[in-house]
Amino acid sequence: MLRSRMAGIGKYLPEQIVRNQDLLRYMDTSDEWIQERTGIQERRYAHRTAETTTTMGVAAAQIAMDRAGVTAAEIDFIIFATLSPDYYFPGCGVLLQRAMKMKEIGALDVRNQCSGFVYALSIADQYIRTGTYKNILVVGAEKHSFGLDFSTRGRNVSVIFGDGAGAVVIQPARNDQEGILSTHLHSDGESAEILAMYNPGTHANHWKQEEFASFDDAAIGQMFFSHAMIDKGQVYPYMDGPAVFKKAIVKFPEVILEALEKNGLTPADLNLLIPHQANLRIAQFVQQKLGLQDSQVYNNIQYYGNTTAASVPIALCEAWEKGKVKEGDLICLAAFGSGFTWGSVLLKW
Ligand code: ACO
Repeated sequence: MLRSRMAGIGKYLPEQIVRNQDLLRYMDTSDEWIQERTGIQERRYAHRTAETTTTMGVAAAQIAMDRAGVTAAEIDFIIFATLSPDYYFPGCGVLLQRAMKMKEIGALDVRNQCSGFVYALSIADQYIRTGTYKNILVVGAEKHSFGLDFSTRGRNVSVIFGDGAGAVVIQPARNDQEGILSTHLHSDGESAEILAMYNPGTHANHWKQEEFASFDDAAIGQMFFSHAMIDKGQVYPYMDGPAVFKKAIVKFPEVILEALEKNGLTPADLNLLIPHQANLRIAQFVQQKLGLQDSQVYNNIQYYGNTTAASVPIALCEAWEKGKVKEGDLICLAAFGSGFTWGSVLLKW
């Protein structure tokens, strides 16, 4: 069966740099707290009106396509991972198809948050392996800055996230020395609500049964989206940080070892691990647990914050641009996030 490979990679980071000190204008926090707990020094925020998740995805995609030597007309499938889409629906995949004037190809949106890009890659890999498509565009992009609670109430979440995009063109491998060796996906919905954005949604959890009964059909829209939700800050992401941390430091190493073991390899064989940039402390814990050298792990959360579905392709692209990813290198991409969902991709560059 054909393997798939990354034929081109690109990233886009918006111009505006927001340092930790800049956040003090909105909330009670400190550079020291943020750096100590997360490693983050600064992040990028998209232009408020001119840039969206899709436009950033398009910018990253164009670079990836140029590097792969592929035109928009040659792309035969789009997979777009994000948790901050331009619209509730339709998804960003079709908006990118329109913006890049692509043919009437399939466009799939992936909603697996921090592990969205890893999930998206696994899908692309299957389509290449079965010979269905030849040039798949996989994009991870986020415009978090539009949906965060910048008051002190939301500080545990809002200081972490940043905007940006990354993209790859996936093609059939040229030989059996390169390409994606295996992909590994997992989920555990037991804790779905501890890292989530509940509204707008169809869950109706905010309403007690008696209130629920009092709603007539005309008022039902309020259950989906109401002034009360906005007033109470229930329209922003919620995170139980310590609980996420505890699970992440178990599942990250587990899924990396799973990928290595499946291929008869060990952590010592890895040239580079690109962990989802959730939190520098999580990445450092994983590095220590696997006994990896500093040169075997790439982190850039210090400069971009957590860009969720975009973090893995941004980090991989940056590492490649710096010459840290060379032909034949063994690379592991790994992610963990909301859901919970987690996964890994092991590949030979
Ligand atoms: N500035 C200053 N103080 C803050 C801030 C802030 N931005 N945020 C929270 N605090 C305060 C809290 O109010 C609390 O104060 P209190 O003790 O007086 O009540 C104190 O700091 C500790 O709060 P916790 O939420 O328990 O903070 P914790 O020490 O766990 O650190 C953090 C929070 C950094 C989020 C941590 O839990 C963590 O790293 N969790 C992992 C989650 C993660 O990385 N998520 C990223 C997104 S998900 C993903 O990508 C996997």
